[in-house]
Amino acid sequence: MSERRFRDIYGYAPAVSASAPGRVNLLGEHTDYNDGYVLPTAIPQRTTIELGLNADGIYRAYASTLNQTTKWQPGETPERGFASYLHGCIRLLEAGGHTVAPLDIWVDSSVPMGAGLSSSAALEVAMLKALRAMFDLSIDNVEIAQLAQRAEIEYAGVRCGIMDQMASSLADTEHMLFLDTRTLERKLVDLPEHSEILVIYSGVPRQLAASKYNERRAECEQAAQLLGVPALRDIADVQRLESLPEPLRRRARHVVSENARVLEAVGGVSAERFGQLMNDSHASLRDDYEVSIDALDRLAESLQQEAATFGARLTGAGFGGACVALVESGTAGEISERVLRRYADHGYRGSRLV
Ligand code: GLA
Repeated sequence: MSERRFRDIYGYAPAVSASAPGRVNLLGEHTDYNDGYVLPTAIPQRTTIELGLNADGIYRAYASTLNQTTKWQPGETPERGFASYLHGCIRLLEAGGHTVAPLDIWVDSSVPMGAGLSSSAALEVAMLKALRAMFDLSIDNVEIAQLAQRAEIEYAGVRCGIMDQMASSLADTEHMLFLDTRTLERKLVDLPEHSEILVIYSGVPRQLAASKYNERRAECEQAAQLLGVPALRDIADVQRLESLPEPLRRRARHVVSENARVLEAVGGVSAERFGQLMNDSHASLRDDYEVSIDALDRLAESLQQEAATFGARLTGAGFGGACVALVESGTAGEISERVLRRYADHGYRGSRLV
């Protein structure tokens, strides 16, 4: 927690406080905007927001992690940066008919930024939960996730799916959240027995993520259209993809096979099989979906080499960020030390995040 609390910045005590976690996705990557299945879990790192009513009729926001303050008038748009997410949340509530009085906003976050662990979803969900508490709004956690997703699309320019915001709003750190992103049906499922999660940052921030992400999404939509289905989720048999031109065939093959991996994993498989599905997912993201980079391949390989690792893969959108591994309970610390040492031999600097 930062030294400079709400009271230090604004001179009075906050009225409400709310928080939301980042997430790491175990399986089901680039499936959510294809109406498919995902399997994320919440990470211990969280974003906290405190609010108080501003007496001068303006919005003020302070981010302790960045030690940055931003101000804007009602009806104005703040400068790009963390405040645009906050502003996006406020504007969307107003568009939904709610009144949001000028506020003093305090933000503190331990969710790493640029690591593919959804720091922006945590920021949006925490903000919306704080606004709900402040103004006694009757919106549930699913509606919060939906509003947060719209904030990301309309105010941050990434045409993302709904996985991150649903995970931040509804997941806990003890379970995986199995989510059908078309129906939003979901259930909490246990990790495979005798296993734990390890997350290592590649040291390479996500690059080109927004443009490449939107490009992949457009390729998937084109593939679905050529196949005459509403979304790639509606294809279960990879044989049906044969008629597609490249690279659409490979892109679609990733999505179809990834959905099958999630469904198999939640059917109740051993940790060994779950890990194999994660390894297969990495290969598919690397070769068919082409969202990996050298650093992530090295890190995933190095994790996979460890005897006590069940499986490992890049997690999140790709083009930088982190790898997630499923390892035997109690081994994450030692595995992480060895892997980081080998990774450094390749000239990279990683760090353990979970
Ligand atoms: C980002 C997006 C999510 C999802 C993942 C890839 O995190 O915000 O909606 O598409 O990438 O699985």
